[in-house]
Amino acid sequence: MLDGEQLSHIVSQACRHYQFSKAIRQRAWVEIDHQALAANIRALKDILAPQTALMAVVKADAYGHGAVKVAETVLKAGASWLAIATLGEGVELREAGITAPILVLGATNTTEEIEAIAHWDLQPTLCNLSQVAIFNETLARLGKILPVHLKIDTGMSRLGTRWEEALPFVAAVHQAPHLNIASIYSHFATADDPDPTTMDQQHQRFQSAIAKLEQQGIPIPKRHISNSAATLHSRNLHYDLVRLGLSIYGVYPAPHLSPKVRLKPVLQVKARITQLKTLPPDTGVSYGHRFITATDTKTAVVGIGYADGVPRRLSNNLKVLVNGAFAPQIGAITMDQLMLDVSHLPDVQVGDVVTLIGTDHDQQLTVDQWANQLGTISWEILCGFKHRLPRINL
Ligand SMILES: Cc1ncc(COP(=O)(O)O)c(C=O)c1O
Repeated sequence: MLDGEQLSHIVSQACRHYQFSKAIRQRAWVEIDHQALAANIRALKDILAPQTALMAVVKADAYGHGAVKVAETVLKAGASWLAIATLGEGVELREAGITAPILVLGATNTTEEIEAIAHWDLQPTLCNLSQVAIFNETLARLGKILPVHLKIDTGMSRLGTRWEEALPFVAAVHQAPHLNIASIYSHFATADDPDPTTMDQQHQRFQSAIAKLEQQGIPIPKRHISNSAATLHSRNLHYDLVRLGLSIYGVYPAPHLSPKVRLKPVLQVKARITQLKTLPPDTGVSYGHRFITATDTKTAVVGIGYADGVPRRLSNNLKVLVNGAFAPQIGAITMDQLMLDVSHLPDVQVGDVVTLIGTDHDQQLTVDQWANQLGTISWEILCGFKHRLPRINL
């Protein structure tokens, strides 16, 4: 039996939860469609080579989608590995109770980092010979043996030992008693380019480095080289694992790869209209008066701005959806708010939902459209939606 105090605590918690859950859909928010996410995992698994496992790349808070919830969904849907970039991202997943193997894609070099990796059961990337001694010594002190993934630079020129110098690096790890080679991997620089010449060259370098290691009798349990674009490009690139980021979130890495698999966008960005007002002709709108009304103009103020991740550079160039109809954004986008011209929408009301990214009735607005307008990539747009936008998991 609950006593009066326990009961009132439960009731007050429930009220607070109710108020909060109402509040999170009040100003602006991000919706995450977990059914779409799971469907993307299943669709991608269907096109993988039979021996290939799916590693879901959930770094950068799962490309802005919320790492813990995304990890739970993708693991249930068939992913068997996770990849993150920073130790903090790995700790967040472990603290949430996620037990799947986690590859740390970023570099780690200090004893503190190695101790944290061992403590949290993360699997590090080793990039060069100079890391071998500190890893082995730290793990010897801890009395642990750690699975490690060795990065070979085949042409990205970022992390890793260059492919021609792979043998001494991998041999040193092989001889280190506290390090267990879990995989050899590389990363493509141009997999989204319709011209595969550079990707093919990187692939050949990867194959030749692996062949040399095999000639020396060094066992290589797993190899992997493909991101989303390479995975969609060809099964020959799948090896034992593919590291999929963008595609699991339902966004294609390049238009020419869209026929390869049917993906559903996972993320939508929405906000509410907070005020309506009709302005006379020749009225300046927002900072700098970068928009001047030509005629009587019915404007809507929307509660979302550049501090939420709507790039200010889209000012006067953004279109949104209101009740299934397109409306142009006018004037400078401000920190927390932006304005629309809704003169053509007689029924619009304060409180109506504005879709900035996503689907409203039959119409769709995509991160690709923003990326094209801004001369950037969809990855950057997804990662740009800030934490002050609550994530609503559908
Ligand atoms: C090493 C590595 N592998 C895989 C990925 C996933 O790439 P994508 O999002 O294109 O699938 C990334 C993302 O940046 C990466 O850095």
